[in-house]
Amino acid sequence: MATVAPSILAADFARLGDQVRLVEAAGADYLHVDVMDGHFVPNLTLGPQVVAALRPHSRLVFDVHLMLENPEAYIEAFVRAGADIVTVHAEACRHLDRTLNQISQAGAKAGVALNPASGLSLVKWVLPQVDLVLLMTVNPGFGGQEFIPYTLEKVRACRELCLKLGAAPAIEVDGGINPEVGRAAVAAGADILVAGSAVFAAPDPAAVIRELQRL
Ligand code: DX5
Ligand code: ZN
Repeated sequence: MATVAPSILAADFARLGDQVRLVEAAGADYLHVDVMDGHFVPNLTLGPQVVAALRPHSRLVFDVHLMLENPEAYIEAFVRAGADIVTVHAEACRHLDRTLNQISQAGAKAGVALNPASGLSLVKWVLPQVDLVLLMTVNPGFGGQEFIPYTLEKVRACRELCLKLGAAPAIEVDGGINPEVGRAAVAAGADILVAGSAVFAAPDPAAVIRELQRL
């Protein structure tokens, strides 16, 4: 069973609470929250205030993906707001080990993310200490983009590297995931599937979530 994390980036922001309740009722496992700062990625989304506003409306695991420069400045605020997992980009952290410790000390699970073109060597030494590795399967910044095929090989390589190191972080894939590429990603070693448009634009989100979970 794959874990499915609908991304609220594809939700109707005018009725965010309802959309979160909808995917929870539809059987989602996690809620993926994309936070963008207009610097690390060319788009802006939301901050801790929105996470805090949603928290009382959902029991889902809040999986917060920080696409920010200097993410260390915002970690405690997102944990206080209700984030269960906080993921930072390796490319945005000058002191990645320190930032990952900061997340754990703040009381959340720690994740590290990589852009499609970034090498696994950036995260190799921290794999044993993280709860999650997020492999971007599109360039971060926007929902609704097409899955980049070469990232499948990276999922495979990441799985092998974890085995070799005796590390067991969950491997999450994010971007352009639908049941078709999701199947290939799970076969390559992905545990968690983020899906924005595939879930929120579907006529029957529950059916898509079930389909992804069964992969
Ligand atoms: C992209 C985000 C993804 C994205 C997923 O920067 O990190 O979470 O919104 O949306 P889809 O599934 O539409 O690609
Ligand atoms: Zn994301």
